[in-house]
Amino acid sequence: MIRVSILGGSGYGGGELLRILLGHPAVEVSQVTSRSLAGKPVSRAHPNLRGATPLRFTDPDDLGQCDLLFAALPHGEAARRWDDLAPLAERFIDLSADFRLDDPAIHARHYGEHPRPDLLGRFAYGLAEVNRDAIRDATHVAAGGCNATVSILALAPLYEAGVVHRDRTVVDVKVGSSEGGAQPNEGSHHPIRSGVVRPYKAVGHRHTAEVEAVLSRTGDARVHLSVTAVDVVRGAAALAHVFLTEPLAEKDVWGILRSRYGAEPFVRLVAERSGAFKLPDPKLLAGTNYCDVGFELDPLSDRLVVIAAIDNLVKGSAGQAVQAMNIMMGWDERAGLAFPGLHPV
Ligand SMILES: NC(=O)c1ccc[n+]([C@@H]2O[C@H](COP(=O)([O-])OP(=O)(O)OC[C@H]3O[C@@H](n4cnc5c(N)ncnc54)[C@H](OP(=O)(O)O)[C@@H]3O)[C@@H](O)[C@H]2O)c1
Repeated sequence: MIRVSILGGSGYGGGELLRILLGHPAVEVSQVTSRSLAGKPVSRAHPNLRGATPLRFTDPDDLGQCDLLFAALPHGEAARRWDDLAPLAERFIDLSADFRLDDPAIHARHYGEHPRPDLLGRFAYGLAEVNRDAIRDATHVAAGGCNATVSILALAPLYEAGVVHRDRTVVDVKVGSSEGGAQPNEGSHHPIRSGVVRPYKAVGHRHTAEVEAVLSRTGDARVHLSVTAVDVVRGAAALAHVFLTEPLAEKDVWGILRSRYGAEPFVRLVAERSGAFKLPDPKLLAGTNYCDVGFELDPLSDRLVVIAAIDNLVKGSAGQAVQAMNIMMGWDERAGLAFPGLHPV
């Protein structure tokens, strides 16, 4: 049994960490912080956890030592507070973008100057499917971004197999409102947000850097990412338009995906010929750590559309972080993450 704490526990990512960790067989949740709700039961922020735990929020200034610290803070906060956080735990898993990129110049291009560039390169990228060996050896992990996660899982097998034009891929991701976190803003007000199909970032999305960093391991890679906010609470769905360098039949594409993902516990290939859910849909994945992957080949061109779906708060954040913890600790990778989702919902 290890003792873990959650910094930034009143937010959506922190709440999902808490929900998952309360059901984890090898973890005891020690402290969960919130400055705004210090002293209040955690169910004040996470009503789904009523009766699940007697824990109350701790002020972040009263955070004590633990074996592993999860941070689910807004962008930039963990890096700025690093000197205070580092002595608190031997192991650290961060959900923000602060430590995902190794190159300070690339970080600066997408996020501005990093407050602690000396820390970049010290964290293992947390997406198990593309970085399992490094996570196993790491004490510090940076969980991937949700749009990056769903894009990478759609694309990695094809880039690794060398069957696509490496600079022509367009990824169109649709995301739910929980991606914006628990703090309301003008755009999240219900009369404004409800019913939207809102291009959030048609070009220049920050997660492009993570996707390209991972895909470039097998050769230069450019990805053209667009993100659109749609009227769901949870979910990220990617349509990745890749252009083939050689004609492939359906069975060839299935072969590439099966050989890459056949042994992955949290990637499911969706290969149904009919039915309402014959292609991946995040509706089925709410609360789960799965990524569903499927595809359609365009018979009239060299375009292959790979479709991937996740829950942005689970596989795209908290669940991915717990999966990384399981790997880091040498436990069953699936521990605490068995929830198969709900249908109908
Ligand atoms: N939402 C997603 O789908 C998603 C997916 C992947 C990654 N992420 C990343 O995960 C991190 C957490 O995201 P989230 O959606 O959980 O955010 P959130 O809902 O806004 O929660 C942020 C948490 O940080 C605390 N906090 C500490 N310092 C703060 C400050 N200066 N300003 C505002 N809040 C502060 C807040 O509580 P108190 O103020 O009460 O302490 C709250 O508990 C972010 O870096 C985000 O980019 C989010």
